[in-house]
Amino acid sequence: MREWLRDREHMVRMGILFAGALAVFLVARAVMVPKDFGTYGHFRTGALADNMAHPLVFAGRQACGDCHDDIVASRKGSKHEQIGCEACHGALEAHASADDPSALKPKLPDVKTICLVCHRENVAKPAGFPQVDPKDHGDGGPCTSCHNPHHPEIS
Ligand code: HEC
Ligand code: HEC
Ligand code: HEC
Ligand code: HEC
Repeated sequence: MREWLRDREHMVRMGILFAGALAVFLVARAVMVPKDFGTYGHFRTGALADNMAHPLVFAGRQACGDCHDDIVASRKGSKHEQIGCEACHGALEAHASADDPSALKPKLPDVKTICLVCHRENVAKPAGFPQVDPKDHGDGGPCTSCHNPHHPEIS
């Protein structure tokens, strides 16, 4: 018997170590994995409610059009027509769903910076995307002195 064990003792110790580690893992998993994990998939079911509880910050472009149909109309046929209002105006759910939206009147975008966020010349941008170097375009004037932000084409 001892003869038999002598050649295999290291295997037995290894086996005990593995079994111990497995036991620790199973206990830790039972304690730490939330009860509602895996009901609908590889996630915690309660995460759905947690996410739904986040207040909305973006209203979506449909909402803006309900009250600002003049702006929607002025964008028709322009290359800016498909850009979401909130891409420039920021998240405005609080304004759009207010009882009195004029009481939560949003600040207008800063025309000195907003256009160049997208249009500043940069070799990393696709060559076909309209881009300008403000040093030699527009004589240093605010972009909106020549371009209407909602319909920027000049001709
Ligand atoms: C329920 C109606 C309503 C909705 C929806 C709404 N607005 Fe307004 N908005 C108003 C009113 C009313 C004013 C105040 C107008 C005024 O005082 O000239 C206003 C003012 C603004 C102003 C400031 C105008 C200025 O001259 O300073 C901006 C910008 C604006 N809204 C953008 C948006 C955007 C973008 C959305 C969509 C996320 C939106 N609004 C959704 C009713 C609404
Ligand atoms: C490309 C950026 C951009 C987008 C997209 C955009 N706006 Fe504007 N908007 C501006 C800027 C910049 C001003 C301020 C102009 C100024 O100060 O002369 C402005 C001004 C306004 C004003 C104030 C009144 C006016 O006519 O100047 C309202 C209201 C408004 N935007 C609503 C909207 C709505 C609604 C949408 C979506 C249908 C929208 N905007 C999309 C950039 C944008
Ligand atoms: C959120 C990004 C974004 C912002 C901010 C933005 N633009 Fe644009 N702009 C675009 C896109 C996208 C197009 C369409 C590009 C295309 O057709 O390939 C465009 C098109 C244009 C064009 C038409 C170019 C042509 O080919 O005829 C002009 C001019 C322009 N923008 C000026 C402005 C000005 C001025 C502002 C600031 C008031 C502004 N843009 C702000 C994204 C933006
Ligand atoms: C003094 C008037 C003026 C000012 C200020 C001005 N632009 Fe222009 N911009 C023009 C004219 C004119 C064109 C050529 C006509 C067109 O493409 O619509 C043009 C064209 C453009 C184009 C299209 C370029 C292309 O390759 O198709 C973009 C983008 C543009 N401007 C963005 C801006 C931005 C951003 C600002 C502010 C930094 C600005 N512009 C300021 C007059 C001006």
